[in-house]
Amino acid sequence: MKTIPLGPTDLQVTRLSYGAMRISGSWDKEKVDEAAIERGIRSLESAVEAGYTFIDHADIYGDTTCEMIHGRALDRHPEWRDRLVVATKCGIRWEDEPKGAPQRYDFSGDYIRQCIDGSLQRLKLERIDLYQLHRPDWLADPEDIAAALIDIQKAGKVRYFGVSNFRPSLVNALQKAVPFPLVSNQVEIHLLRLATFEDGTLDQCLEKKMTPMAWSPLAGGRLAAAFNDKADLPADEATAAIVQRLRPVLADIAQAYSVTPLAIVLAWLMRHPSGIIPIIGTTRPEAIKEAAKADTITLDRESWYRILVATRGQRLP
Ligand SMILES: NC(=O)c1ccc[n+]([C@@H]2O[C@H](COP(=O)([O-])OP(=O)(O)OC[C@H]3O[C@@H](n4cnc5c(N)ncnc54)[C@H](OP(=O)(O)O)[C@@H]3O)[C@@H](O)[C@H]2O)c1
Repeated sequence: MKTIPLGPTDLQVTRLSYGAMRISGSWDKEKVDEAAIERGIRSLESAVEAGYTFIDHADIYGDTTCEMIHGRALDRHPEWRDRLVVATKCGIRWEDEPKGAPQRYDFSGDYIRQCIDGSLQRLKLERIDLYQLHRPDWLADPEDIAAALIDIQKAGKVRYFGVSNFRPSLVNALQKAVPFPLVSNQVEIHLLRLATFEDGTLDQCLEKKMTPMAWSPLAGGRLAAAFNDKADLPADEATAAIVQRLRPVLADIAQAYSVTPLAIVLAWLMRHPSGIIPIIGTTRPEAIKEAAKADTITLDRESWYRILVATRGQRLP
């Protein structure tokens, strides 16, 4: 798979990332038994075999079990330590920890310092390549965050820092306090959610050379109906109408490029000049492999706009 530099750094990452959010098969730690761990390792192996070397985690995925499965996979594949670029995230806290607390966000310096050690331990790594702040904490103090990131970097625990779900003004506020570049912003981008194209998020990535990473590039599976007649249409009528308009357009363009419509949906994201990296979430080996084909094509401008117009349901002004 082709590679591009991560943000303004010289670290090369694959054009698509493999997202580990679903590899444990459950968000309930108690349900992740040896068979589930084995299936999770198999998903990671499928991704590596298909050429993905940029792997995205978060401490909360599978309630920590997805990072744990990665660590177990390294026991079997110690060479992955040098081969893979590993990203993870912190900052979301579950409800009832402690009892009665709601689910919430926490970017306090002390909490970030505590989280990084937990992730390193579970991933069985000495250093994380990309450490991302998961969802904006409404009470975040940029100076407090910056002090923690500086400590973590000085201790050699992280190579680069990024953010996730950050609006551009918050990136600016944090960047002002942090003495090294924030290299990525992981945001929700797919054909059913185009906000980042117009709200300044992708403009900021272009300006600062931050890498945009697209989470849920198939809208968490809702877009599958746009290329699979057997998949249920989304329940919401407006979304179902978009998916139905997309079906013939994606099929037509896929035929022209000799790839599947799935690859076209991903290639559509990758065509943006900011270098969007879709994060692939399926755990099925054949789908992981199929998605990687998006890297083999570059959509022409006409096809790109045909897809945009079909999504909008009306011509551009
Ligand atoms: N930063 C954040 O806030 C945030 C939030 C959410 C996710 N993420 C990241 O984004 C990654 C991807 O998210 P996602 O899993 O929601 O991505 P997605 O690709 O939008 O959705 C994956 C889902 O689509 C289903 N699907 C149905 N047909 C498919 C097909 N033909 N090919 C591929 N998938 C198909 C998959 O089911 P099957 O497994 O059965 O194929 C899976 O349940 C996560 O792993 C995580 O790393 C980040």
